[in-house]
Amino acid sequence: SKRIGVLTAGGDSPGLNAAIRGLGKAAIGSHGMELIGFRDGIRGLATDRHIELDKAMLSGILTTGGTILGTSRDKVHKMEVDGEVRDMTGEIADIVEKNKLDGLVLLGGGGTAKNALRLAKAGLNVMHLPKTIDKDVAHTDNTFGFSTALEIATDAIDRLHSTAHSHHRIILAEIMGHKAGWLTLGAGIAGGADVILLPEIPFTVESISTAIQHRREKGTNFSVVAVAEGARDLVATAELQAAERLVKDANTPEAKAAAKKHLASVEYEHREHTFKLAHDLEEATGLETRVTILGYVQRGGIPCAEDRLLGSRIGSAAADLIAEGEWGVMVGSKGDDTEPVPLEDVAGNLALVPTDHAWIRTARNVGTNLGD
Ligand code: F6P
Repeated sequence: SKRIGVLTAGGDSPGLNAAIRGLGKAAIGSHGMELIGFRDGIRGLATDRHIELDKAMLSGILTTGGTILGTSRDKVHKMEVDGEVRDMTGEIADIVEKNKLDGLVLLGGGGTAKNALRLAKAGLNVMHLPKTIDKDVAHTDNTFGFSTALEIATDAIDRLHSTAHSHHRIILAEIMGHKAGWLTLGAGIAGGADVILLPEIPFTVESISTAIQHRREKGTNFSVVAVAEGARDLVATAELQAAERLVKDANTPEAKAAAKKHLASVEYEHREHTFKLAHDLEEATGLETRVTILGYVQRGGIPCAEDRLLGSRIGSAAADLIAEGEWGVMVGSKGDDTEPVPLEDVAGNLALVPTDHAWIRTARNVGTNLGD
């Protein structure tokens, strides 16, 4: 019978345990396979820290947050081990062989897709299941974690409305999403934010303060602004894009290292942008302005029904594909069904919000200012 290794990598995300359970129950129960779980993502894989996953261990985890396996943000080819940065591809191949594994299932987001492709190129059987609250993985309708985070961020915007309204304040809610605006856009629309700022649409303080002044002229002296953690104003966006281009174009290792250092300093310069924006809006509008950073609250706690369903669907479909001998793919969600997508099409292919996306149209149609 087949023997499979599973791990969870990158930020924790609601629905991870549902996906481990879906994979495990289908693999063990329906297909008679054996399953082992590596602890703490790629780190536990590279150091062979694992547990046998039996049916009892998969019981009672459908509704729980986090990941029973633990996670980390390591790169296969650049892992810090004993104070040294090493490529662990060879060690991982040995560990796969030693444990007599037919293949590995990696649950994670964009970084994990890259790790999965690297291991596949080294000749291993690898499958990727798309997990992230950011919904920025290409070729899948959704990623487990997003729907729960959307509920939490929307609830936060609802609650912030009470204080914004009662104190006649502007409140900025900073929402996660890395370089993508899906979570902020979705929660901003669902929570009725007056302004939504996304990484995909650089903003100007002038556009936002004009929108807020218009509301004021009509007698509404409060505003709730949903700010994506990756949203930047026009000037910062141009600076960041230029620095990113330098990294991309650098053609020697030395030039790349220097360009990366420069990019890090530009990023550092534009950190805490939400607080800076709050200051600028207070100056421009004369309204008291406050910031709430939602942070890890968005990733914690029990998964909503949608994420339990998605994790179960994708996890169990992965077991079916493994039974058929299909490797080297991400199991994407397509409508109510799933679809295997080659890892090459997913890795390094960040799914940002297209500026002509239907949700953007929705936001504009209901009168939301998008900062541009
Ligand atoms: O990818 C999920 C995410 O929560 C992003 O939205 C955010 O940018 C990042 O992880 C935070 O990373 P960390 O867990 O390392 O603080």
